[in-house]
This record gives sequence, structure tokens and C-alpha cells, in this order.
Amino acid sequence: MAGSNQSVISEFLLLGLPIQPEYQNLCYVLFLAMYLITVLGNFIIIILIILDSHLHTPMYLFLSNLSFSDLCFSSVTVPKLLQIMNSQDPSIPYAACLTQMYFFVLFGSLENFLLVAMAYDRYVAICFPLHYTSIMSPMLCLCLVVLCWVLSTFPPLLHTLLMARLTFCADNVIHHFFCDISALLKLSCSDTSVNEFWVVFIGYIFLVIPFLLITLSYAGIVSSILKVPSAQGIRKAFSTCGSHLSVVSLFYGTIIGLYLVPSTDNSPANETVTAMMYTVVTPMLNPFIYSLRNRDIKGALGRVVCKKTFFCL
Ligand SMILES: *[C@@H]1O[C@H](CO)[C@@H](O)[C@H](O)[C@H]1NC(C)=O
Repeated sequence: MAGSNQSVISEFLLLGLPIQPEYQNLCYVLFLAMYLITVLGNFIIIILIILDSHLHTPMYLFLSNLSFSDLCFSSVTVPKLLQIMNSQDPSIPYAACLTQMYFFVLFGSLENFLLVAMAYDRYVAICFPLHYTSIMSPMLCLCLVVLCWVLSTFPPLLHTLLMARLTFCADNVIHHFFCDISALLKLSCSDTSVNEFWVVFIGYIFLVIPFLLITLSYAGIVSSILKVPSAQGIRKAFSTCGSHLSVVSLFYGTIIGLYLVPSTDNSPANETVTAMMYTVVTPMLNPFIYSLRNRDIKGALGRVVCKKTFFCL
């Protein structure tokens, strides 16, 4: 069987990042530091929101879910990347590869839907400020979070089942640092047209529709500000929506740029760098985008540290 073109392979080799050997150590330390910052930053956000009762509002409950999703999203790929860089053993078993793909798509979708729920929350807060607490009840909040989770299970399930049907023959070298759908499809020796169709279809349905919903919410927000233009109204909108808008731009900018814009000269190296953006950089930046210049989070940090250590400045 070994060496035969038709032998079914049991493991893949992840080539990792296209880095010169002399920069391997530097990059390892850099990614390790970025991963630790991601875990710590998101963990602190979650703990603060749980501990501080001032942050028990819909916006922050969604934010804590987003942080949880970010934490899981980068934990699906980065530890494996670090292990590959450190051990020089690039192999990943077939089942582990599909599992990684499943969770990658799962947490990516979850993040996507949570951003829509957060946009709706901002829309209600700006356009119906007087009815905000009655519209965004804890019940609706919980329903939206559960809906996000339920919807997020479909894309990964479909992609994983479709991927499991494919046969992989001689070539098992993935030119990427994780088991990405498109990288795997390139290796398969079966017909991948059905898979490609669903990747594009699901991509459009599950990314473009949420993106349009977010755009609609912001159109509503902008038009409600323009109806009664006041310096104070604009400042309020900026301070409550600015963070969300930055996170949204970062998330959709990279994903739409990579997957949905058909390009002819997408070299593997180019794709890997874009993928680094949304697997490592975006989850790391989200907690900072939300906490810098945010008085609620800073206040909560002060209160929680105070209460836990009996040490107040
Ligand atoms: C997520 O949202 C739910 C419902 O609003 C909330 O109960 C929960 O504390 C949030 N946070 C996390 C980390 O799941």
C-alpha cells in the first residue's frame, strides 16, 4: 500500500508559516506572546462582566459571549501552530484535522452571529432609547445568544460531513498552518465540486446576510442621528457604537477579502498571512478595542480589583 497513489492517507502534514528558518524562534515567541495576550485579555473581560453587576447589561453580556468565542476561536488553531513550530513535527491525524476544521468554522460562525446580535442591540439603544430596557429584556438576550449558537452549528456540520466523503491520496501536505477547508479541498483526489459549491453558498448566506443586517442596523443608527443632528447625539453614538464598528470592520474585512473576492493570484503565502490576521490578530485586538476608552470596563476593573484585594488607590 505504501507509496501507492490510491492509498488512503491517515494523517496530514501542516507546513505552517512561510518563515525563513532564522526567524522561526522570533516568530514563535511573538505568536506565543500574542496568544497569551488573547487568552488573558478575553479572560479578564469575561471575569469582569461576570463579577461586576454594573456590567450586567445586554451589550456586555453579548461582549462576554464574544470574548468566549474569541478565546475558543484562537485556541483552535494557535496552540497547534505553536506546537508545530516548536517540535518540527508537522503531522496531524486525519480525525484531528477534521475536528479542527469543525471547531474553526463553529467559532467563526458564532462570532459572526454574535456581531449581528450586538449590532441589533446598538440599533435599539440608539433608535429607541426609551424602550431599550423593555425591548432588550434578559429573555430576548438569552434567546438571541441561544439562536446564535444553534445557527452556528449548521455550517461546520455540513462542511465536515462533506469533507469526510472525500478521499485523499498521495499528497498530504497542507500549505497552511491549520486545516482550512480550501487548503484541504486542494489536496483531495475526489471530485470537490459539490464541496466548493457549498463553501461558496454557505459563505454567501452565512456571511453576507449577517453583514447586510449589520449594515442595515448602522443605516438605522445613522439616519436616526441625522434626523436630530446634535453634537451630543453624535458623540453618544460614537462612544457606544465605535468599538463594535471597529470589530465588525476587522472581522468582515479580512474574511470577505480572503474568501469571497475571487482572485487569481492568491499565493499560499498570501492566504496564510490573511489567515493570521483573523485567527491571531482579530481575537487579540477585540478586548482592547472594547476596553480602551471604555469607562464602564475601566470602572469595573477598578471595583473588582478593589473588592478582591482590599487594596484601593
Ligand atoms: C452569554 O450570554 C448569556 C445570555 O445573555 C449570559 O447569561 C452569559 O453570562 C453570557 N456569557 C458567557 C461567557 O457565556
